[in-house]
Amino acid sequence: MTEPLVVAIDGPAGSGKSTVARAVAERLGLEVLDTGSMYRAVTSLALREGVDPRDADKVTILATAVDLRVGVRVLADGVDLTKTLRSEAVNELVSVVASVPGVRRELVERQRAWVAEHGGGVVEGRDIGSVVFPNAAVKVFLTASDAERARRRGDEAPESVARRDLLDGGREVSPLVAASDAHVLDTTDRAVGDVVEEILSWL
Ligand code: DC
Repeated sequence: MTEPLVVAIDGPAGSGKSTVARAVAERLGLEVLDTGSMYRAVTSLALREGVDPRDADKVTILATAVDLRVGVRVLADGVDLTKTLRSEAVNELVSVVASVPGVRRELVERQRAWVAEHGGGVVEGRDIGSVVFPNAAVKVFLTASDAERARRRGDEAPESVARRDLLDGGREVSPLVAASDAHVLDTTDRAVGDVVEEILSWL
């Protein structure tokens, strides 16, 4: 059996992952899985249910039990959390939740199941090429200058983005690092179409 086609796109906040992932997926006729939205959904659900996001055992139980639907809209146990995912409260706590090993184990399993169900896909996150899909057909690690990343984040304060990057890069489990076989691509001053062509040339 041939393996489903997976394009892994990793990088820090504001590096252009979502825009590039959507464009690559469209060209390849694949769907996109935004894994950051899964960590955000578990964080939002914890806040909603009064579970302390710093309580590793409780958030792991929450992540394991929740019926999570991720697409254009994100639903947890039937509740549409889409609007809450980029709130300040979630921005503040999502890196803490994403550093809990039990939460990562559960969400990684669900990411693999999603790809199996969809017959492949473009998967964006922080550890996709390094941990979730080490055999991805192509691994891309996007970067951009600090100033450009802050600009792309729009409403979110640069300190908040920097804080998340620091936590994501410094955590013990699956820190943000480029896989040794990833193509590192600086998207500062590059047009999206141009970046997409370069990625497609690696397939
Ligand atoms: O991509 P994003 O900003 O929506 O990600 C939200 C948070 O989730 C961020 O702190 C990094 C974390 N994350 C992760 O640890 N692993 C992933 N595969 C995706 C996101």
